[in-house]
Amino acid sequence: MSPVLAIHDLEVAYGTIAALHGISLEVEKGEIVTLIGANGAGKTTTLRTISGLLKPRKGDITFDGRSIVGSKPHIVTKMGVSHVPEGRGIFANLTVRDNLELGGYLRKDKITAQEYERVFTLFPVLKERIRQSAGTLSGGEQQMLAISRALMSRPTVLLLDEPSLGLAPQMVQTIFRVIREINAEGTTILLVEQNAHMALVTAHRGYVMETGRIVLTDNTKALLASDRVRKAYLGG
Ligand SMILES: Nc1ncnc2c1ncn2[C@@H]1O[C@H](COP(=O)(O)OP(=O)(O)O)[C@@H](O)[C@H]1O
Ligand SMILES: [Mg+2]
Repeated sequence: MSPVLAIHDLEVAYGTIAALHGISLEVEKGEIVTLIGANGAGKTTTLRTISGLLKPRKGDITFDGRSIVGSKPHIVTKMGVSHVPEGRGIFANLTVRDNLELGGYLRKDKITAQEYERVFTLFPVLKERIRQSAGTLSGGEQQMLAISRALMSRPTVLLLDEPSLGLAPQMVQTIFRVIREINAEGTTILLVEQNAHMALVTAHRGYVMETGRIVLTDNTKALLASDRVRKAYLGG
C-alpha cells in the first residue's frame, strides 16, 4: 500500500534557526496517525509545512504520490488536505453558518443540505447556534466549528493541530469521540497533540517528536506501553 501522505527528510527553518531536522513520516489511507511531543518540538511547523504555509529548505512531501512541496495553501486544500490550525482560526465576527460556508469556498459546487446535516449530527450544538456570531461560542464549540468548517472542503486528509488545547475534560472527550467518528466515515487524520494520553488511545499509530526530530514510532498500543513514552508524556 502506498501512503496517502508522506513526508521525507523534511527540514524547515525560521530564518537561520532550524525547527525540523529532517523528519520522515507516513500516513496510510484510513488511518488516524498522531504526532505527539512537548511544546516547541516542531508539531505545528510540520503541519504548516504540509499545508504550504511554510516552505521547507530540504525534503519532500507527497500527497497521493505527487509532490506538494511549493504548492500554495489553497492548492493543497483543493487537492484534499484540510488544516484545522492551532487556535482554531475561525472568524469571530461572522456567524456559524458563514464560517461553515467559507470552509467550502474552494469547491466548484455548493455545500449540500446533507453536508450541513452531517456536521449537525456530529455537533448538534452548532445547529442551535447557526445564526450566532462565532465569537460568542465557547472554546469547545469554536473547536467544533473549526473542525466542521474543515470538513466542508471534503478533505481526504484532515490535519488537526491541538484540538483539545484549553478545553474542559468533558469537551475533550466529545472532540476525540467525533475525531474517531469522522475517521470511521472515511477521512484520514493526522492529529497533533500535547495530550499524549488521549491522542494515543484515539490514534492507530503514532510518532514521537523531540526538538525537531522523530525519536520513536510504533502502533499506539506499543507506544502506550513504552517506558520512554510513559516517563516523558504520560506522567510516569
Ligand atoms: N514564527 C516563528 N519564528 C521563529 N521560530 C519559531 C516560529 N514558530 C515556531 N518557532 C520555533 O520552532 C520550534 C518548533 O515550534 P512549533 O512547531 O510551534 O512546536 P510545537 O507545535 O510542537 O509546540 C520552536 O523552537 C519554536 O520556538
Ligand atoms: Mg504547536
